[in-house]
Amino acid sequence: MNTSRLARVAWRAKWPVPLTRGAASKTPQPQKPERINPRLQPFEDVGPPPSQNGISPRVLTILGVTALGISTYCGLLYASYRREVTQGQSLDVPQDVSARYNETASTFDADVEVSEKAMRLGAKRLDLVRMARGDVLEISCGTGRNLDYYELGERRGVDDKGHAAVRGCRSLTFVDLSPQMVAITRQKFEKLHPGFARVDFRVQDAASVEPPSFPRPRSSSSSPAPCYDTVIQTMGLCSIPDPVAALRHLGAVTEPLHGRILLLEHGRSHYTWLNRLLDNLAPSHAHKHGCWWNRDIGAIVRESGLEVVEEKRWHFGTTWRYVLRPKKTV
Ligand SMILES: C[S@@+](CC[C@H](N)C(=O)[O-])C[C@H]1O[C@@H](n2cnc3c(N)ncnc32)[C@H](O)[C@@H]1O
Repeated sequence: MNTSRLARVAWRAKWPVPLTRGAASKTPQPQKPERINPRLQPFEDVGPPPSQNGISPRVLTILGVTALGISTYCGLLYASYRREVTQGQSLDVPQDVSARYNETASTFDADVEVSEKAMRLGAKRLDLVRMARGDVLEISCGTGRNLDYYELGERRGVDDKGHAAVRGCRSLTFVDLSPQMVAITRQKFEKLHPGFARVDFRVQDAASVEPPSFPRPRSSSSSPAPCYDTVIQTMGLCSIPDPVAALRHLGAVTEPLHGRILLLEHGRSHYTWLNRLLDNLAPSHAHKHGCWWNRDIGAIVRESGLEVVEEKRWHFGTTWRYVLRPKKTV
C-alpha cells in the first residue's frame, strides 16, 4: 500500500498514521484499542441514522414543529371565529351603532394603525385628498387621519390632464357625529396648521350638514346657494345609519357643475367566500367597533342617484374609491 492510500485508510479509520515510512520507524505508534466485538463500529463513527428519503432529521424536526405551529394557530383562529359568530348571533345589534365612536375615539388611531399600514391606505388617502379644492367639506372626519394630505390655500396649477386649474383648499369644514372625534381632529389640525383661519369644526349628522360658513367669491360657483366644491368621506359609509340618505344630502350641498364627492370606503368584496365571512362576523364587529363592514358600497352609491365619474376597487374588492358628482338636473 503506498503512503497516500495508507493515509486515506487511516483518515477513514480515525487513528493517526505517519505519512512517511521514515517517520514510522522513528515515532512510537499509539496502540489501537482492541475491540471486543470486531463487527461493532467505533462509537464516534455512529451518527444519526439517515432518513430513507435523504432529508436530514434536523430538517424533518423543523418542518414538523412548523407544521404543528401552523395547525395550532389555524385551530385557534377557527375557534375564535366560531366564538365571534356565535356571540354575534346572540346579540341584537341595532343598525345605528355610531355612538360607539364616543368610547373608542381616544384609542382609534392605535387600533387602526397596523391594518392601515398593511393595506397601504395612506397612499390611497393621499391620492384622494389631493383632489380636494375650493371650499371643502370632510364628513365623518373621525380623528383627522387625512389632515396630512390637504393642500391649504388656493393657487393656480394644472389638473390630472394637464389643463390649467385652480388647486388647493380655500376653506375646510370638518364634520363628525362624535364630539370626541371632532375634538381630536381640531387638536391635530391646530398643531399642524396654526395659521390657517378658514377652518370650521362641527358636531353634526352627515344627513343634515349645512353649507359652508365662509363667504364664497361669486364667480366660483354655478349655484346661487352656498355649497361645497369638494365633499370627502373616508371609511364613513360603514358607520352612518342611513348612508343613502346621507349621500343624497351631500349631493345637494355640492356645487352642481364642477363639484365632486370623493369617497374611500370599505365594504363587500368581489368574492362570495369573503362576503360570507364578513356577513357572519358583522354583528359582533359592529357591536364592538360601530361599523358595518359588510355593506354593499356600490349599491348604496347607485341608490343615492349621484353620478359616477370614477370607480376603483382593491383588496379583494373590499376597498372602494369613488369620484361622484351631483345628479344632473335638466
Ligand atoms: C370608521 S370611522 C372613520 C373615521 C375617518 N373618516 C377615517 O378615515 O379614519 C367612522 C366615523 O363616522 C362617524 N359617523 C358615524 N355616523 C355619522 C353620521 N351620521 N354623521 C357624521 N359622522 C358619522 C363616526 O363618529 C366615526 O368618526
